[in-house]
Amino acid sequence: MAGALADKVAIVTGGGSGIGRGVARLFAREGAAVAVFDISLGAAEETVALIRGGRGVASATVCDVADGASVMEAVSQVLTVHGRVDVLHANAGIGLPAKLLADTSETEWQRVMAVNLDGVYHCVHAVLPSMRQRRAGAIVITASPHAVLTYRGMGAYAASKGGVLALSRAVALDHAAEGIRCNAVLPGAIDTAMVRAEAESQADPEAALRQLAALQPVGRLGRPEDVAPAVLFLAADAAAFITGAALAVDGGLLARLGG
Ligand SMILES: NC(=O)c1ccc[n+]([C@@H]2O[C@H](COP(=O)([O-])OP(=O)(O)OC[C@H]3O[C@@H](n4cnc5c(N)ncnc54)[C@H](O)[C@@H]3O)[C@@H](O)[C@H]2O)c1
Repeated sequence: MAGALADKVAIVTGGGSGIGRGVARLFAREGAAVAVFDISLGAAEETVALIRGGRGVASATVCDVADGASVMEAVSQVLTVHGRVDVLHANAGIGLPAKLLADTSETEWQRVMAVNLDGVYHCVHAVLPSMRQRRAGAIVITASPHAVLTYRGMGAYAASKGGVLALSRAVALDHAAEGIRCNAVLPGAIDTAMVRAEAESQADPEAALRQLAALQPVGRLGRPEDVAPAVLFLAADAAAFITGAALAVDGGLLARLGG
């Protein structure tokens, strides 16, 4: 199959919804065999059905990225079928309704860290042996603008995303000489289930969505289809000289000082 990921084997975590689904679909259109990992098997299967409807190659695997054993099992299945992993998009993540750190319970803090930070560690750690053996591989991690700047009430989420941004640089440095690249994307406010759930927790959800859209200089929410090409670019061989980079896909959000 032709395309930027022709004959590649790719894993997309959190591929059952939102950004991950957009990336999984684009990866498949670009020729990859895509393993869709998600904590919801039904959601992963929906993504796979969409891909197969477009004549792409994909499989659905239930996997909780917060659980190292679950990730190992899911990655082993991919290795058994395909013999390798060329691309990992470590994307699964959760939000938390906005609350001050003082009001964030230890349980809430630990769950956000377990999925957003430990989850990325588990996935990267599980694919590295195969990538190191083949001296090739591309990893793209979904971070967030909250990794570098944030607003009130986002403590746990911002800390988890700052952690994965630091982790992406560390992985890039540790494995650059082995032909393995690792980069991060920082999506702005993207219209997905996560953002809609956060808006629903506000008194006026539609107003909350409008406010979020207005924060971004382009004046709208992003779509998963806006993020997917950036992930594809970093995952593909065209980006062979790019590693340790953080690519904002945020409608200008991080460029804004005010106004
Ligand atoms: N939507 C945004 O505005 C935005 C902005 C910046 C970063 N992000 C990040 O993008 C990533 C994807 O978010 P989204 O907006 O597409 O959300 P989403 O809720 O639409 O999709 C997230 C997917 O991850 C899955 N998931 C949740 N916990 C999991 C777990 N423990 N193991 C495996 N799968 C799990 C969910 O079932 C869901 O299918 C997240 O890391 C999020 O933090 C989102």
